Amino acid sequence: MNISSYMPVDVFYGKNALLENGKELKKLGSRCLIVTSPTAAKKSGALDDAVKVLSQEGIEYEIFDRIEENPLTSTCHSAGTAAYEFKADFILGIGGGSPLDASKAIAVFASNRHMEPDDIYTAEIKNTPLPAALVGTTAGTGSEVTAVSVLTNSKTGFKKGVGGKAYYAKVAFCDPSYTSSMPYSVTVSTALDAMAHALESILCLDANDMSDLYAYKAVELLTEGLQRLDKIQSAEEINEDTRDLLYTASLIAGYSLNITGTCFPHTVGYILTERFNIPHGRACAAFTPEFLERGRKHMPEKTEKVLKAANMNFDDFVALIKRLAAIPELRLSQEEIDKIALRWNDSIKNFCRTPGGYTAADAKSSLISVVKPL
Ligand SMILES: [Fe+2]
Repeated sequence: MNISSYMPVDVFYGKNALLENGKELKKLGSRCLIVTSPTAAKKSGALDDAVKVLSQEGIEYEIFDRIEENPLTSTCHSAGTAAYEFKADFILGIGGGSPLDASKAIAVFASNRHMEPDDIYTAEIKNTPLPAALVGTTAGTGSEVTAVSVLTNSKTGFKKGVGGKAYYAKVAFCDPSYTSSMPYSVTVSTALDAMAHALESILCLDANDMSDLYAYKAVELLTEGLQRLDKIQSAEEINEDTRDLLYTASLIAGYSLNITGTCFPHTVGYILTERFNIPHGRACAAFTPEFLERGRKHMPEKTEKVLKAANMNFDDFVALIKRLAAIPELRLSQEEIDKIALRWNDSIKNFCRTPGGYTAADAKSSLISVVKPL
């Protein structure tokens, strides 16, 4: 058995997880920068609850609510400066994957003033980052429990993950009721993201018995959640039980992802988000069918176990994912495809972790299978 793992985040899960655990924030200091996107934190009710808790605990705060989708390193750097100037003791990130990933980078920038925005991928973290507390408002990212922050390089426009132990949050508050304000389409995309995390973890060359323990359970729960979403068309039809199921599943998938990392669908999926604005979860899911085919060829036993956990046959499982991902016809010129492919090389971690030997040339083929040359 191999159960190597590390996950130091204090996770509080359930209704009123934030409201009932304000003392956890007090442990982090008396001044904080709230980091969020322009709308989600307000709509979900999480921002109101956070402000209430901070006031109760006598914690002073400032709000930085300019985190965009696929956050830019430059935005995170600006927020880091805001945290530094406010003398924040900690960062309180509220939202989906973008604000949560941004919060981890902001915590680094706030205490490492020598870093320029795009240095975050390469520069040494000399000073311990500010502690970060995270409040999720979507069910998919797993960012609450991972040491990864996916950012968009403000110079190149490329999405890329940065990570390491410095990127773990100190505490996460996971209240599924905050996910109720998510539109149907966001609920589907974030659930597909969580499913991609679970599948890429199971069929990852770095998988171990502990990551599998989490990931198969996540597949079981997420299949149930995706089947429910497949039968409806609006957020009003998503009940409390389904919201709870999806958030639980996304967190469990996050635990597995934290051990293994992701495989090629995440890396190639970034292109669909950058070039066509396809939401992250659907962008990864566009490559899930090919990834499962690869699993069937190179890890047949594990792929069978995936289908057993999903309680579906291969074709129906793939059809469910394809239906919900709903990738439209996408086209780019051959010249643009060639240019995109230049950013990949055979030593990209996500490629090396993919079963069967996956190269930069394979990535180009995967891209062409979804984005046809003009
Ligand atoms: Fe993801």
